[in-house]
Amino acid sequence: MKYFTEHASVDTVNERMNIPADDRVAVVMSSLVRHVHEFVKDVNLTEAEWDLAIDFLTRTGQISGPERQEFILLSDALGVSMLVDAINHRRPENATDSTVFGPFHVENAPIREMGENISLDGKGEACLFVGRVTGTDRTPIEGACVDVWSDNEDGYYDVQQPDIQPRWNNRGRFVTGADGRYTFRGIKPTSYPIPDDGPVGQMLTRLGRHPYRPAHMHFLVSADGYERLVTHTFVDGDEYLESDAVFGVKESLVATYEKRGPDADTMWISEYDFALVQEPGEV
Ligand code: BEZ
Ligand code: FE
Repeated sequence: MKYFTEHASVDTVNERMNIPADDRVAVVMSSLVRHVHEFVKDVNLTEAEWDLAIDFLTRTGQISGPERQEFILLSDALGVSMLVDAINHRRPENATDSTVFGPFHVENAPIREMGENISLDGKGEACLFVGRVTGTDRTPIEGACVDVWSDNEDGYYDVQQPDIQPRWNNRGRFVTGADGRYTFRGIKPTSYPIPDDGPVGQMLTRLGRHPYRPAHMHFLVSADGYERLVTHTFVDGDEYLESDAVFGVKESLVATYEKRGPDADTMWISEYDFALVQEPGEV
């Protein structure tokens, strides 16, 4: 039996495990123990600092519930969500990039007709969203579901303002035809702060960081035989593109918003194509 020492702390804890070393739990937990111990040693963590960390995590749990998940927000704000996404979705070059899911998706949004307007509160600058869903070889995908959601002109999702916004405001699902095209009307999204009235917001303030996300439209694109794509398109020129509070921006996801065509006076147009990766075994 080994007693605990500062020097041998990692081995002392990890050797207590009694499961096969190649069990995934053993792999993950032994690495976690090693990194946490190294972190404590690296910064010479004081007892007051450890108490503060425990209090922070306690409050993060206490503020979480069915309507709010502060741990995901913490993971987002520390870049961990984007890192997990990156290592799990290493895509071929011509496939559309993924980004964070975020907490504001709602399952089973209404299925709408192509071209329909998802903005139900009549606020904001009208924008037409158009493009195609294809495979990485650019062949159109029929029957793809394009599930979209965005904030309203004031920077809030409908679920954040159930008493103010109509249900399903700025949300909808569109199913592509044989040409793989989608078209819908909505508004040019606006930048907004992530929920910053809890521990994560306090952390951002203490770190001298702002809570804003650059304006974006969320897309969840799915089709039989293809990997589900969770992504956004960002509004070109947004002032927060290079300082997104959750690190979600990728250059390939910055979309153009233009005033062109017959409705140039009244409507923006944003065109973006999505290229999905075939599931293994479907190639
Ligand atoms: C969002 O884009 O909806 C979002 C993503 C991460 C944290 C908060 C909001
Ligand atoms: Fe969002």
